[in-house]
Amino acid sequence: MTASDTTAPAISFAGATRTFPARRGAPVTAVDDVTLDIAEGGITGVIGWSGAGKSTLVRLVNALELPTSGTVTVRGRVTTELSERGLAELRREVGMIFQQFALMSSRTVAGNVGYPLAVAGWSREARRARVAELLEFVGLADLAGRYPARLSGGQKQRVGIARALATSPSILLADEATSALDPQTTREVLDLLRRVNRELGTTVVVITHEMEVVADICDRVVVMEAGRVIESGDVHDVFAAPSHPATQRFVRGVLQDVPAPDTLARLASRHPGRLVTVAVGGAAEDGDDTAQDAVARIPAAHGVRSTVVHGGIRELGGRPVGSLTLSLTGDDDAVAAAVAELSAVARVTDPRQPDTTAGTTATPSTSTERPA
Ligand SMILES: Nc1ncnc2c1ncn2[C@@H]1O[C@H](COP(=O)(O)OP(=O)(O)OP(=O)(O)O)[C@@H](O)[C@H]1O
Ligand SMILES: [Mg+2]
Repeated sequence: MTASDTTAPAISFAGATRTFPARRGAPVTAVDDVTLDIAEGGITGVIGWSGAGKSTLVRLVNALELPTSGTVTVRGRVTTELSERGLAELRREVGMIFQQFALMSSRTVAGNVGYPLAVAGWSREARRARVAELLEFVGLADLAGRYPARLSGGQKQRVGIARALATSPSILLADEATSALDPQTTREVLDLLRRVNRELGTTVVVITHEMEVVADICDRVVVMEAGRVIESGDVHDVFAAPSHPATQRFVRGVLQDVPAPDTLARLASRHPGRLVTVAVGGAAEDGDDTAQDAVARIPAAHGVRSTVVHGGIRELGGRPVGSLTLSLTGDDDAVAAAVAELSAVARVTDPRQPDTTAGTTATPSTSTERPA
């Protein structure tokens, strides 16, 4: 990597659109006017419902698809301007793994991993050394001679990762790479992807429909809906302040910190005090745990009894994010003063009256699905 490469994005979409002609009816615009930079070296999650255009978006990166308008630039190469040779070079620099692994059943683990090297013209000895190194990295050194039919799903995906890394790509695309795996195996594969990023410096792009995967390993997230990028940014910031309703739904599935309507009704009947929800994390907070400190300190300072009745806080990108719902009891004026002081340092809402200032606020409580 040269010095100039470190400032340029790894992948840059500029007004990229991919339209497919339909056999009958209107053409389908799978990717619709996407302008987006993916920085070198991180792990970016692309999330969205089925049909949102995620696979098409990443297939634009290794030029399996070309944009019908706009451009996709991958480490300085504009995909629509490449010769056959340029395309081959691009595909050596962009590895890809798939949900269904796509291994060749007639070749052993070593044969699968070495295949892209054979295609690239490596000598037998060079291939053998490289394959051994790759299998060591993914923890499959013992299984070099085994055929895919005798591997578990997790092992198959690790073979897929080793094969994708064979030519030392600077970018690794993972399309639903863990969707066919159980939770424990998913963990292992995600850990491996994180190692690929940290230890090899590979830029990783992970497609998923599970926000949990994004929360686990990604540092940036791109949310797609109907071919468009509806939200993107630092994972912590997006989780703390999801501005689009679709993002709020994804985030709520992971954080589960805001009480559901029936839970809220139960809480209100059990706790006579005033209920307030205090957001933790988000742009408003400059300290590490300002809101958490405030929740512990402020009610007590006003002689108000405070009980945490619901909530959840999770570490994302090394910072806490979530919310705490408190029941505050005491003298009415003291409770009001405590709420006012809390509001000065953290975002405080009444869980029964979620605020509607979407876009500028900091919790999933802005969702349209919340009780009014
Ligand atoms: N080769 C193609 N020809 C016609 N339509 C296509 C083609 N590839 C994708 N599409 C359409 O483009 C839209 C986006 O598809 P895409 O596979 O990119 O979505 P996705 O977000 O990956 O979905 P999933 O989560 O189900 O994998 C869909 O409506 C799909 O039917
Ligand atoms: Mg897909």
